[in-house]
Amino acid sequence: MQTVTNSTSHTYTTNDSYLVIDGLSKTYATPEGPYRVLDNIQLTVREGEFLCLIGHSGCGKSTLLDMVSGFRQPSEGEVRLEGRRIKEPGPDRMVVFQNYALLPWLTAYENIFLAVNSVFPKLKQRDKVAIVQEHLELVGLTEAADKKPKELSGGMKQRVSIARALALRPKVLILDEPFGALDPITREELQEELLQIWADHKVTVLMITHDIDEALFLGDRLVMMTNGPPPALVKSSTYPSLGRAIAPDSWNSQNTTSYATKP
Ligand SMILES: Nc1ncnc2c1ncn2[C@@H]1O[C@H](COP(=O)(O)OP(=O)(O)O)[C@@H](O)[C@H]1O
Ligand SMILES: [Mg+2]
Repeated sequence: MQTVTNSTSHTYTTNDSYLVIDGLSKTYATPEGPYRVLDNIQLTVREGEFLCLIGHSGCGKSTLLDMVSGFRQPSEGEVRLEGRRIKEPGPDRMVVFQNYALLPWLTAYENIFLAVNSVFPKLKQRDKVAIVQEHLELVGLTEAADKKPKELSGGMKQRVSIARALALRPKVLILDEPFGALDPITREELQEELLQIWADHKVTVLMITHDIDEALFLGDRLVMMTNGPPPALVKSSTYPSLGRAIAPDSWNSQNTTSYATKP
């Protein structure tokens, strides 16, 4: 545990071993035989940390985070969140992908509502609606609520994906090259929005990027995955992100609210 005092003298306690990747190995079965992608990976993430994972294409970044999200199972080792072993996907670990993963026949509003409804089925209808509206507003998409993905730009689609993930109040937000398909101006806008959201929600963020500038701008910590096989993690020490250094006061608020009826 670590006690932190921010610039507004707000003291809070964080858990240094919030997320633990412990001796994680992954071997894929391929027609040519077993392919060991990851070997004995060790990584500990602090609660509320914004960690950026960088590395060349194909080195195993998505494989690693897929085992945090629970989409894939390790061959050896385990991932623990708050001391509990991750065995399957769950709403406490939401993933935002590069290709948005929105349902094309639903509007922006409906895409978020569907997720809220399936994770918080017992909430009153008006509370579900309020959550969806709050998160559409958070990403500046209130006006586009009734548009379907094909009517939205890439940046708007990614905003819907981020809003949908955050509406479920995840403990960990996992982003797999989320801005890779966006033009540079939209990417910069979304980076700043993400940083603001991270500061407001105090969610723990794991983000894959191959853009070192993006990692330096956003991350508290940067972990580089070397080329394998098998790759190794080269960990930096904690440093203040460039993004937060620019606007430290407005990005230091604490907000750890959760929905009362969350299961
Ligand atoms: N299901 C699979 N079966 C076999 N090999 C895979 C599978 N998924 C990924 N790989 C291989 O594992 C390596 C790491 O992939 P990945 O984790 O997607 O890398 P990254 O996200 O860093 O680009 C790559 O060589 C990829 O081809
Ligand atoms: Mg990948």
